[in-house]
Amino acid sequence: MSDTPIRSALVTGNSSGLGLGLTRMLMRGGAAVYGLSRSGCPASTTGDVQVDLADDAAIAPAMARLLDGVERLDLVVLNAGLLGNIQSMQEADIRELRQVMDVNVWANKPILDHLLSSGVEVGQIVAISSGASVSGNFGWSGYSISKAALNMFVQLYAHEFPGTPMHSLAPGLIDTAMQEYISQEVDTERFPALKRLQEARGTEVMPDNDTAAQGILNSLERLRTVPTGSFVDLREL
Ligand SMILES: NC(=O)c1ccc[n+]([C@@H]2O[C@H](COP(=O)([O-])OP(=O)(O)OC[C@H]3O[C@@H](n4cnc5c(N)ncnc54)[C@H](OP(=O)(O)O)[C@@H]3O)[C@@H](O)[C@H]2O)c1
Repeated sequence: MSDTPIRSALVTGNSSGLGLGLTRMLMRGGAAVYGLSRSGCPASTTGDVQVDLADDAAIAPAMARLLDGVERLDLVVLNAGLLGNIQSMQEADIRELRQVMDVNVWANKPILDHLLSSGVEVGQIVAISSGASVSGNFGWSGYSISKAALNMFVQLYAHEFPGTPMHSLAPGLIDTAMQEYISQEVDTERFPALKRLQEARGTEVMPDNDTAAQGILNSLERLRTVPTGSFVDLREL
């Protein structure tokens, strides 16, 4: 566990996968945990608001409702994300590319802007990025582009959160709905870079969401020693 106990946290995308794991682990550690997603968190939380993060106008009111009366968050995890299709760039529908950008990048703007304008004190911010933000392998399409943009988004917002360590973090492989799609739907003859992911499923290289969440929480102290605004791959931290 992180040396400094987390007493309060916001986790976006808390209804499944890593966000659900983070919520469970933080609640188990005694934190007050607030979250956002479309379908709602199946685990117990302190506050949970359902919102479509592709609908930018809905996000600020959802944040105001979620954090009413909250003065401090020790941790904010910008985790909600969408994989989109594995495909060539030529095949990609521009509306789908825009939707992936909206959820993976732009949804975080009204979230951070609300934290700044409402004066909620924030201890640490982690945006969940991906190795795909820097690898650029064939097929990763809008997902890679959105995660590369997220890295720069974090670098820029870090200037506006002085005193709050802020990083984009590639968490490594996690056995969630995203990996289920990759293992069942993706043709690895055509997209060979994804073969490694299919082979990793069911091995210790691809832990379940609770284990991966605990690994991230354990890394928070070390992450704070890395210059704010940086992209970090958890496997190299
Ligand atoms: N799994 C991996 O191996 C892996 C590796 C590297 C990075 N990541 C990153 O880890 C993060 C979590 O992914 P995951 O693997 O846990 O996937 P997941 O199980 O599909 O979870 C995605 C979460 O994001 C939420 N979300 C998606 N679209 C949304 C929208 N329009 N509005 C509100 N919430 C939305 C989902 O909630 P609703 O559907 O209820 O809205 C869900 O809670 C993502 O940023 C992903 O890119 C995952």
